[in-house]
Amino acid sequence: MYRAPRGTQDILPQEQPYWRYVEEKAAEICCLYGYERIDLPMFEDAGLFTRGVGEGTDIIEKEMYVFEDRGGNSLALRPEGTASVCRAYLEHGMHNRPQPVKLYYIGPAFRYERPQAGRYRQHGHFGCEAIGDADPALDAEVIDMAWQFFVGLGLGLFTIVLNSIGCKKCRPEYLSLLKEHYSPHVDEVCADCKVRFQKNPLRLLDCKSPQCQPIADAAPKSIDHLCADCAEHYSDVKRYLSSLEIPFTDNPRLVRGFDYYTRTVFEVQPAGGGSQSALGGGGRYDVLIEELGGKPAPGIGFATGMERIILGLQKETVPVPSTPGPQLFIAYLGEEAGEAAIKLATTLRRNSTAVIMSTGSRSLKAQLRQANNLSVPRVVIIGEDEVKTGTVVLRDMTTSQQESIPVGKLLELLQ
Ligand code: HAM
Repeated sequence: MYRAPRGTQDILPQEQPYWRYVEEKAAEICCLYGYERIDLPMFEDAGLFTRGVGEGTDIIEKEMYVFEDRGGNSLALRPEGTASVCRAYLEHGMHNRPQPVKLYYIGPAFRYERPQAGRYRQHGHFGCEAIGDADPALDAEVIDMAWQFFVGLGLGLFTIVLNSIGCKKCRPEYLSLLKEHYSPHVDEVCADCKVRFQKNPLRLLDCKSPQCQPIADAAPKSIDHLCADCAEHYSDVKRYLSSLEIPFTDNPRLVRGFDYYTRTVFEVQPAGGGSQSALGGGGRYDVLIEELGGKPAPGIGFATGMERIILGLQKETVPVPSTPGPQLFIAYLGEEAGEAAIKLATTLRRNSTAVIMSTGSRSLKAQLRQANNLSVPRVVIIGEDEVKTGTVVLRDMTTSQQESIPVGKLLELLQ
């Protein structure tokens, strides 16, 4: 028996109302903040991510699904959406549009991670990107939008965590301070941190291993070593957020797992959980467009994990609207009645009534049992007599009461 690949899951009909609810809320909030939808390919040139996300990151080194197609091209299943949006921005000359260009996307991302609750190899992202503006007010707007999205979903148990990791100008100096702090401890840190120390020192701060915590906690903070421009930007972002009454917590250890970030980084974390189970995250990427070969265009955005949101909704027992099911089941007895039933079902559907038509030649009892299992509120029964008289029997499944009515009256009734 085949099973869904490890870390993937089927979204069964009973889960669909949650997905629809979150997607509708996402589209609503995007409309309010002026974001337009973009749909991106699920695979891209692998180089786009290596270049954009960064070679030394876990996502590229350990998690990306890379494959060669039959034409010998090196492709990757997208591990995230930001690099693709930037590629599309460049490819379609969007710098000619009024800036910032605001785009959102909903769709799967693929990462070869160790699966567990809330962590999958294929998972859904809802993400937003605003490209072409460096104003700190835009950072605050994006964070406000993320906040309002989660509030609008009906979730209550989450917090916004914020940090600034500086820019090309001030980060190198900070990184050397960080390395200086870690160098006497290189023998004490975990195996991953030994590699991070060499390859990607900023990520040392992100480590979850217990033995690394005291060293990371005592490390110098990026916000204490920002250049004047970055410091001003960060203080403006926080000022805007305060005036918008968006609660946030500074976390000097928040660095996020992508090389493209500059200045503001933030995460939406479940109350009591950490970045391992973040509901969403994002930040500024002021040089990514340039790194991908474009003219300078600063950007900022965030993405949220659909499955984690849905787990949150279920945990907080947030009610979501159910998908309306068929209103009518058509049961019949005999060949002639079968033909009349098909015709009736078609007429009703053309008049926008959702109908389930019985199939096969089962007993009436079996057909009613099926209607009951499908929770259809009403059943139309057609037998030989009904065919002759141009009537149907209409049965209310809740009260079990039934009446014989002309077909024409049924159509009127349902309208
Ligand atoms: P990310 O934090 O890597 O950011 O992913 C966004 C969200 O996707 C996470 O906060 C989490 O909720 C969810 N997520 C990530 N990995 C998994 C997984 N394995 N299973 C289930 N859910 C997961 C980005 O992808 C950036 N592109 C966000 C961004 C947009 N930054 C700027 N613009």
